[in-house]
Amino acid sequence: MKLTEIRQCFEEKFGQGGDIRTYFAPGRVNLIGEHTDYNGGHVFPCALTIGTYLLARKRPDNKLRFYSMNFEKTGVIESTLEDLAPKTEKNWTSYPKGMIWTFNGKGYPITQGVDMVLYGNIPNGSGLSSSASVELATGVMLRDLFGYENLTNTDLALFGQYSENNYNGVNCGIMDQFAIAMGQKDQAIFLDTSDLSFQYAPIKLENAKIVIACSNKKRGLGDSKYNERRSECETALAEIQKVKDVPSLGALSIDEFEAVKDAIKDPVRLKRARHAVYENQRTIQAVEALKQNDIAKFGKLMNDSHVSLRDDYEVTGIELDTLVEEAWGCDGVIGSRMTGAGFGGCTVSIVETDAIDRFIQKVGDAYEKKIGYAADFYVVEIGDGAGTLAE
Ligand code: GLA
Repeated sequence: MKLTEIRQCFEEKFGQGGDIRTYFAPGRVNLIGEHTDYNGGHVFPCALTIGTYLLARKRPDNKLRFYSMNFEKTGVIESTLEDLAPKTEKNWTSYPKGMIWTFNGKGYPITQGVDMVLYGNIPNGSGLSSSASVELATGVMLRDLFGYENLTNTDLALFGQYSENNYNGVNCGIMDQFAIAMGQKDQAIFLDTSDLSFQYAPIKLENAKIVIACSNKKRGLGDSKYNERRSECETALAEIQKVKDVPSLGALSIDEFEAVKDAIKDPVRLKRARHAVYENQRTIQAVEALKQNDIAKFGKLMNDSHVSLRDDYEVTGIELDTLVEEAWGCDGVIGSRMTGAGFGGCTVSIVETDAIDRFIQKVGDAYEKKIGYAADFYVVEIGDGAGTLAE
């Protein structure tokens, strides 16, 4: 899809003329550090070059008109600035509406209507954060059109998370919105979610690439067990806090955790907390390994991350396990794990360049045979974060 085609679509739906502006927000993939962000731990995501394009023009009245080229059948959806209360019945416009609602609530009033056309090339529901991408595309658009230049990209990431938590009912952490807002080409972001301090780490893979395998098992965070996992961790932390003064599971070293873990009274909660603590430490070690150019160790930590997500956190399922376990059996695979929330969605693998074709063939065939439908594979590049696109 070319930008000129999206522009043409905008003019067809909403008419020509005026100041039509173009914005882009990427999707993201997390290399390691899963389900650690709402536990005060570290994550290591990067922005992708695929994402959401948004074209917008202010209106003189209070109308909001939305059109997605990904949901053509739904057609143009209309609303008004006065009709933004969170609704139980949701569709894709809940993401841009949630952002407008958040701007208003945070003291950045949106005072005029807007016409918007969106086009995204992130597979929906794939776990590459298509929803956070729509949120951040809307965020950079509102900042620009309404002159709120004092808002930083970190502010917009926090607005996106706020909107997701309070408008769309998913208690997500900050990782997705932060990666999408702050991404940089060829860099992953080592983010400490306890205080939002971060460092960029160059991903210089010699003779290897990042390959994403999409299970095509659809899921939405809202109907997944995401919120349940989060509250299991919160309960486990509260039990630990009875015997040790600690702000989050992410603040515990492995030795500290092992010393207090008996305070957790339920074996399932113990597994959840163990994942959160060990995964955080793995993430720190993985970034260290990368700095020392020890890509083999990085890959091994990715594999360990998957095992922990499968056995302790129990968020993988047969689709993701099949993709990852098949990947582990392929020559040239440095590391492979599920990425994102889990319960469907994608895996991320680091694969030697000359092994990629064989990898896709072998994992793809085995997956289709076992699961009954095909997976999709994407060799991805690391791109920049959300912003305005020049004409
Ligand atoms: C989803 C959430 C993130 C994070 C991941 C799991 O992508 O939006 O905040 O919790 O799941 O690591």
